[in-house]
Amino acid sequence: MPKDPEQFRATLLAYVETLRRTGRRSIRLWPGWRQALRSISIPRQEGISESLSAAQASLPQEAGPPQESIPNSLSRPSTGSPEPTDREERVRRLEALRQATAGCRRCAHLAGSRSQIVFGVGNPHARLLFTGEAPGAEEDRQGEPFVGPAGKLLTRMIQAMGLQREDVYIANILKCRPDLPPGTPGNRKPTPGEMETCLPYLREQIDIIRPEVIVALGATALEGLTGLRTGISTMRGTFLDFQGIPLLPTFHPSYLLYRPDLRLKRQVWEDLLLVMKRLNLPISERQRGFFLIPSQG
Ligand code: URA
Repeated sequence: MPKDPEQFRATLLAYVETLRRTGRRSIRLWPGWRQALRSISIPRQEGISESLSAAQASLPQEAGPPQESIPNSLSRPSTGSPEPTDREERVRRLEALRQATAGCRRCAHLAGSRSQIVFGVGNPHARLLFTGEAPGAEEDRQGEPFVGPAGKLLTRMIQAMGLQREDVYIANILKCRPDLPPGTPGNRKPTPGEMETCLPYLREQIDIIRPEVIVALGATALEGLTGLRTGISTMRGTFLDFQGIPLLPTFHPSYLLYRPDLRLKRQVWEDLLLVMKRLNLPISERQRGFFLIPSQG
């Protein structure tokens, strides 16, 4: 759950709007949301927002369990830190953060199992930042995010946008590979505790780079940055807000590898077209037509 009520409010309203557009008239409130709803005001509107206001009004007034505040010197102060004034300052801060994370042992089990920290890669002045979930085996080996099979697909997606990997910034919610019992193949999803512990690093990276758009690749990235545990299929293609930066959720490239379906590819591509539009990047007719299903053409 976002700690900042304004961010929570913006995220919730975007979520409600998505539900409204897709014809839904009810919303599932997680316990944490009930707690947070007490502290924000929701405008009275037709449809779902109205029932949200009602839900808010009918919430019991007794205080819930106190929200544990995670002590962390890396999280952005609520007043907002000054924006980096020049490019050198941005590079300096990013490098300082990289060095600060290099020996991180906040999750002792991950520190013990990783080969190295996978900090992030790309342009410190990027207008576009992609975040995934956590390093896989190849990323852990090379120390760079998205260099395995899903990463190769992400690179092709970036190139399809007319960009290079070096133009954007690529990071993950978790900087360590989630451990698995020795000999177990594959990856595992980070636990909520691991995410909460590691997220201040990504928040700080975003604070330094101040990209114009963030793309959250997959449900874990969406949950990490917004607190939303709604399915990625519901939220993809809708711009949300992360501390004033438009955030677009879309499917994770590994999902596309797992389900090589042209419709899914087109959905992701349409999301990336929205990002290109938001960034005023040129879009050719050819690009507009990528992954079009013949009957759509
Ligand atoms: N999947 C991710 O989420 N991140 C990576 O770096 C690689 C695969």
